[in-house]
Amino acid sequence: MKNTVSTFKEQKVKGDKITMLTAYDYSTAKLMDQSGINGILVGDSLGMVMLGYENTLPVTMEDMIHHTRAVTRGAKDALVVGDMPFMSYQVSVEEAMYNAGRLMKEGRCQAVKLEGGASVCPQIKAITAASIPVMAHIGLTPQSVNVFGGFKVQGKSEEGAKKLIEEAKAVEEAGAFAIVLECVPAKLAEIISESINIPTIGIGAGSGCDGQILVYQDMLGMVSDFTPKFVKQFAKVGDVMKEAFAAYIEETKQGSFPAPEHTFKISEDVINKLY
Ligand code: KIV
Ligand code: NA
Repeated sequence: MKNTVSTFKEQKVKGDKITMLTAYDYSTAKLMDQSGINGILVGDSLGMVMLGYENTLPVTMEDMIHHTRAVTRGAKDALVVGDMPFMSYQVSVEEAMYNAGRLMKEGRCQAVKLEGGASVCPQIKAITAASIPVMAHIGLTPQSVNVFGGFKVQGKSEEGAKKLIEEAKAVEEAGAFAIVLECVPAKLAEIISESINIPTIGIGAGSGCDGQILVYQDMLGMVSDFTPKFVKQFAKVGDVMKEAFAAYIEETKQGSFPAPEHTFKISEDVINKLY
């Protein structure tokens, strides 16, 4: 069954947790879709995990469209959300609408996501009015890393907590169909989830959210440089990959790969005629 913005809303009402992961390519999206994931975010985190940048700021509309197209080809039932990259929606409402439209038309996703609270409400309103569902994203918004002075938990002070509650209400009012809460204290995320009617999707925001999302390389244990506190490694895929790469190198060097069963045959008659 196709997941939609309506089924997301129904899941919140029923208390059925919404499951999301990031993906950036066809084969991974297909595996997640076959596993029954509700939604896939083509995150601008692809700048870091796929392209090797140190943050998400260099990611372009072209990067996002390229990867979103690949994911939508692999996702049959999952709701695919395309992430709006840095400076694709901040300059003006018109640019935001134009770029959201490109992501949906060229990337073929069913919704877009953008970071921010009150400051991006005019964009959320206009994009939604153009029939493009918008997922909001508040708390630690990585495109603002230079303003935050690093990747830090948000909303710990009374002032910060109140501001996040207000921002959640503001983006709901502006028309967002869901909100990502990133690196927010668990109790505050629970309060926010209870005070709005649209689903909250948490990452580093505890189990009181209406759904969860993780970056897939993090949850598969594919990255060894840095693992944030909120990540659980559900497998050690990085180790499995390295073992397989090492075995291939070893067997190729000693000549045991390729074996006869991996090899195409030709008749002796043909071979004899070659001499
Ligand atoms: O880009 C991304 O992967 C994200 C999620 C972590 C929410 O924005
Ligand atoms: Na993102």
